[in-house]
Amino acid sequence: MHTIDIPVTTDKRELYAQLRAQLTSLLAGERDLVANAANTAALLYHALPEVNWAGFYFLRGAELVLGPFQGQPACVRIPLGKGVCGAAAQTGQSQLVPDVHQFPGHIACDTASRSELVVPLRKGAALIGVLDLDSPRAGRFEPADREGCESLAEVFLAALD
Ligand code: SME
Repeated sequence: MHTIDIPVTTDKRELYAQLRAQLTSLLAGERDLVANAANTAALLYHALPEVNWAGFYFLRGAELVLGPFQGQPACVRIPLGKGVCGAAAQTGQSQLVPDVHQFPGHIACDTASRSELVVPLRKGAALIGVLDLDSPRAGRFEPADREGCESLAEVFLAALD
């Protein structure tokens, strides 16, 4: 078993520095995509406050397909360019959405979700998928969360062949 330390700091830079160290330790010595995605989702879901969904979609052809996650069961396939995840995958840019009700084409997997952060995952030039976080609180995610989650995505990607 690997115990998670829930950070208590309200400083988001410090919070993500602690999570980066924990994720590095959690993934050390393992190169399996599914195992590492599952443990990354579990760490984020349990350690980040006010998050009701944390997980992955992986690129399969022209669509994103659901990967390991924590939270309510979710939609399985998302075409590129659709929803927040599809926008992140198509543009290659992180999507920080303070109010999902204002995002055209948002895909509501859990009606409790009010804000969302999606980080694209690239291995070299190739997009492999996205990391998706949902919150029941509008405005939950800030630029500091985007930077922090992009940094965690780097750790995840470095653990892949
Ligand atoms: N809301 C996402 C779909 C995935 S769920 O949030 C887990 C979107 O619009 O792409």
